[in-house]
Amino acid sequence: MRSHYCGEVNASHIDQTVTLCGWVHRRRDHGGVIFIDLRDREGLAQVVIDPDTHDAFALAERVRNEYVLKATGRVRRRPEGTENPALPSGEIEVLCSELEILNHAETPPFVIEDDSDVNEDVRLRYRYVDLRRPMMQQRLRLRTAVTRALRRFLDDEGFYDIETPFLTKATPEGARDFLVPSRLQAGAFYALPQSPQLFKQLLMVSGFDRYYQIVRCFRDEDLRADRQPEFTQLDVETSFMDEDGIMTLMERMVRELFREVLEEALPEPFPRMSYAEAVRRFGTDRPDLRIPLELIDIGDLLAGVEFKVFAGPANDPEGRVAALRLPAGGELTRKEIDDYTKFVGIYGAKGLAYIKVNDLAQGREGLQSPILKFLPDAVVSEIMARTGAQNGDLVFFGADKARVVNESLGALRVRLGEDRGLVERGWRPVWVVDFPMFEWDPQQKRWDALHHPFTAPQVDDPEALLAEPGAALSRAYDMVINGTEVGGGSVRIHRSETQAAVFSLLGLGEEEAREKFGFLLDALKYGAPPHGGIAFGLDRMVMLMTGASSIRDVIAFPKTQSASCPLTQAPAAVSALQLDELNLRVRHPA
Ligand code: AMO
Ligand code: AMP
Repeated sequence: MRSHYCGEVNASHIDQTVTLCGWVHRRRDHGGVIFIDLRDREGLAQVVIDPDTHDAFALAERVRNEYVLKATGRVRRRPEGTENPALPSGEIEVLCSELEILNHAETPPFVIEDDSDVNEDVRLRYRYVDLRRPMMQQRLRLRTAVTRALRRFLDDEGFYDIETPFLTKATPEGARDFLVPSRLQAGAFYALPQSPQLFKQLLMVSGFDRYYQIVRCFRDEDLRADRQPEFTQLDVETSFMDEDGIMTLMERMVRELFREVLEEALPEPFPRMSYAEAVRRFGTDRPDLRIPLELIDIGDLLAGVEFKVFAGPANDPEGRVAALRLPAGGELTRKEIDDYTKFVGIYGAKGLAYIKVNDLAQGREGLQSPILKFLPDAVVSEIMARTGAQNGDLVFFGADKARVVNESLGALRVRLGEDRGLVERGWRPVWVVDFPMFEWDPQQKRWDALHHPFTAPQVDDPEALLAEPGAALSRAYDMVINGTEVGGGSVRIHRSETQAAVFSLLGLGEEEAREKFGFLLDALKYGAPPHGGIAFGLDRMVMLMTGASSIRDVIAFPKTQSASCPLTQAPAAVSALQLDELNLRVRHPA
């Protein structure tokens, strides 16, 4: 129907006749002449309808916002002084000779502008309208550019794109499963995959050597700004490569991705940091390296003080006492400090002690703090020295179980970085490596896999693993960019004895392990090559690259926080007949 996209027409088309199709972005009636900004995915073009063209003019008078039009006309230069430098088509306009209304539109539920202030429920309910906004078009365009670049890279590197089932058995990635009842086998359920983990490993046993898939994963977990119940992974697996080879290949892919799509250069190589170092310095295993603040251990200085708040955790093997220096933090008001105290409370911190550094030369007199009276001079001056405090700074303190201190000061560090404008510009990727294999769950009193149970230990010795599970490190790696975990993977266990040992450590009895993962244990016995891989959260990657603040803004049809879809009204009740066929009966909550 069209000869050009609206957003494509420019001065090079002057004097040509073009046919455009699109939506009426705005119509202006300038006493006798009608101007229509016609919009399509490439942008806007101004169509001018003169009363001389009677038929077109009569139609144009009836046109409203979001009508769908086809307009043919000659491209001409806009009169001097009426150009719009903000638009690629801003130098020209199309003098309409023929106009056709392809469809009418009701008044849209909100204005199609980037800054139109609409609540998200309404946006999602009318998502097809919301997606017309230039920003949303741009984000989804960038998303296509991302998948195109990734596919090209992997195709060139000899990866096969192989599909894996959605109707399958539980794959443990730490979330709840979405279940699908079987009609043919009463009482039995498929699980939607939390990831294709087991299938991609089986593909390695089959000898495909290099696999990738851009694939939907399903996880029934509590949603946050960067989580969706169904989301997309770029899933990768390789054989005969160690962690170094996989990380090198994958960071090259990400570097090329950023260069191609954003024209941004990422560092070569990406720095690598151990899990222990990341947690010690930043309180988290996904550190945002753009923020120049660090946690500093001071427990050794406080083990002997009388102040129980500090001495307790300092003497507890599971405790931690750490300081966080905020340069120029002396400017913070009482109210701001109170707000930060509330903020760390979200993470379980029972308080947020601080020392304001007015004048170091004056010793204790130059400091200001509610806890100063509890601390001996030597301790105070050693804290000042170790944190590198300068006049005008403020030093925060966290003292509790290490987990609470890490989470609260780790989050405070990011919050301060944002509030105080300390976040450096640019891209700071980092590989986090040397993760522990297992994490002790004090509530369930058992070991959990920090990654997933198929991750190989650094020392492949089932006996050593069983003897000291807490000390074992894994061959896992996470790619973190600007504080977002964009991907994670590992070298896998490829020997069935080691896999069995890990299952037993995780509390899976032999029978249960057979029932759940017998097919994997069997496959490992039929010539499984050493293999490993990674999965990237595609939505998170695109979110990062577009600067969107929510994962929902880079997914065409996302779910809300309560995992529902305002557009289709899913999830929804089903008919009694359907339930009957599935041998299900719904127990309605009281
Ligand atoms: P993992 O569980 O770390 O690893 O997932 C890989 C990446 O997927 C993204 N991600 C999510 N994105 C949006 N919403 C979610 N609910 C969500 N959950 C995870 C993250 C994460 O880094 N099979 C392993 C990978 C492997 O070992 O190869 C796996 O799924 O960006
Ligand atoms: P308190 O003795 O409870 O009045 O606390 C004295 C100061 O220590 C206050 O500034 C509290 O915010 C702070 N504080 C209390 N508990 C902790 C904690 N676990 N970690 C860091 N600071 C704390």
